[in-house]
Amino acid sequence: MKQFRVGVVGATGMVGQRFVSLLENHPWFRLTAVAASPRSAGKTYEEAVGSRWVMPTPMPQAVKGLIVLNAADVAAVAQQVDFVFCAVDMKKEEIRALEEAYAKAECPVVSNNSAHRFTPDVPMVVPEINAQHIEIIPAQRARLGTKRGFIAVKSNCSLQSYVPALHPLMADFGVSKCLVCTYQAISGAGKTFESWPEMVDNCIPYIGGEEEKSEKEPLKLWGHIENGQIVPAATPAITAQCLRVACTDGHMAAVFVSFDKKPTEAQILEKWVGFSGPAQELNLPSAPKQFLHYFSEADRPQTKLDRNLENGMAVSIGRLRPDTQYDYKFVCLSHNTLRGAAGGAVLLAELLAAKGYLD
Ligand SMILES: NC(=O)c1ccc[n+]([C@@H]2O[C@H](COP(=O)([O-])OP(=O)(O)OC[C@H]3O[C@@H](n4cnc5c(N)ncnc54)[C@H](OP(=O)(O)O)[C@@H]3O)[C@@H](O)[C@H]2O)c1
Repeated sequence: MKQFRVGVVGATGMVGQRFVSLLENHPWFRLTAVAASPRSAGKTYEEAVGSRWVMPTPMPQAVKGLIVLNAADVAAVAQQVDFVFCAVDMKKEEIRALEEAYAKAECPVVSNNSAHRFTPDVPMVVPEINAQHIEIIPAQRARLGTKRGFIAVKSNCSLQSYVPALHPLMADFGVSKCLVCTYQAISGAGKTFESWPEMVDNCIPYIGGEEEKSEKEPLKLWGHIENGQIVPAATPAITAQCLRVACTDGHMAAVFVSFDKKPTEAQILEKWVGFSGPAQELNLPSAPKQFLHYFSEADRPQTKLDRNLENGMAVSIGRLRPDTQYDYKFVCLSHNTLRGAAGGAVLLAELLAAKGYLD
C-alpha cells in the first residue's frame, strides 16, 4: 500500500489527540500537519496542547515540534496532506462549511463530527456493516465539482455497540423493534474527572441530542443508494434512553429486541461469533480480528475490563437471555473514543485507501 500524508483538524482536542496517538507508527498513514483554532495556531503542538494531553501513552516525539496551523487556512493545510481527519468543537453550520471547504480544495475529509451525517450523498460508514455506501462518493464529487475531494463520516459513538450486534441478525430473522438504554462514559463529552468533577459518583440522565442520534443514525447505516443519495431504511423502530455514567471510557448498552422470525439463542450466538465484514476480509490494519466477542460469564462485559478488547476496536456482548416483553435482551459494550471515534475513523480511512478513493 502506498503511504499517505495525513492532517488532523482539531488535533489538540480529545478526539484529535486519539488520532495523533493512533497515527504514530501507522503502516499507511503519516501525520504531516496538525490544525486547530486560532488560539493554538502558530504554537508547537506540545505548547498548544499543554496540560490537556489525556492519552494513556506519551505524546509522540515526532509530533511535539509540529507547528499548529489555523484550521481555517484550508489551502495551507490541504497542500501539506493527502487527506484530513476532522474532529472540531464548533457550531454545526461552521463545521459543515469547513469540511466542505477542505473537500472543495481537493482534500478528502474523514470526519468524526456529526454535521454532515445526514447530508444525503455523504457516506456514514461502519466498515463491517455498510462499506458499500462509499460508492456514493462519485455522486458527491459531482455535486461538489471536485475530482478528489469528498467527505465521509463515521456514525455516533453511542450506537457502535448495539448496531454491530443487531446487524448480523437482520437478514435471516428481521429485527422488528428494539429498545436500548446506553450508559456512556465521560470522554464522550470530551471530559475527564478533573475537568468534570460533578461526574464523580454521579449519573446524569440526559445527553443533548444523543437519543435522536441513537434512534435515527442506524437507519442510515442500513439504508441503500438510490439516484445519488443514501435512502435510510424504514425499519427497525428503535427507541433509546442515553445516560451519562461515571466511567472514563467505554459506552455500554442494554438492548431489548424482537424479531419477525424469532431465532433460538444458539442461532443468535452462531451469527455473532461467525460475523465478519469487509474490514476483516480486506485485512485493514486497524480491523479487529474478531469483531463481535460473546462472553458467557454472567457479569461480563464490564466497561473497565473489556473496553480495550482488540485495541478498543472490537465489540463485547453478553447476558443474552429471553425477555418477558421482547423476544430477547442482552448487553454490549464498545470503546467510545477508539471504535466509537478516532479508531472508527482511521478504519474508515483505511477502507477508503484500500478501495482507491484516496488516490
Ligand atoms: N469525545 C468523543 O468521544 C467524541 C465521540 C464522537 C464524536 N465526537 C465529536 O468530535 C468533535 C471533537 O470532540 P472532542 O471531544 O475532541 O472536543 P474537544 O476536546 O473540545 O476539542 C475540540 C477541538 O476543536 C478545535 N476547535 C475549537 N474551536 C475551533 C475553531 N473555531 N476553529 C478550529 N478548530 C477549533 C479545538 O482547538 P483548540 O485546542 O485550539 O481550541 C480542539 O482541537 C466534536 O464534534 C464531538 O462532538 C467526540
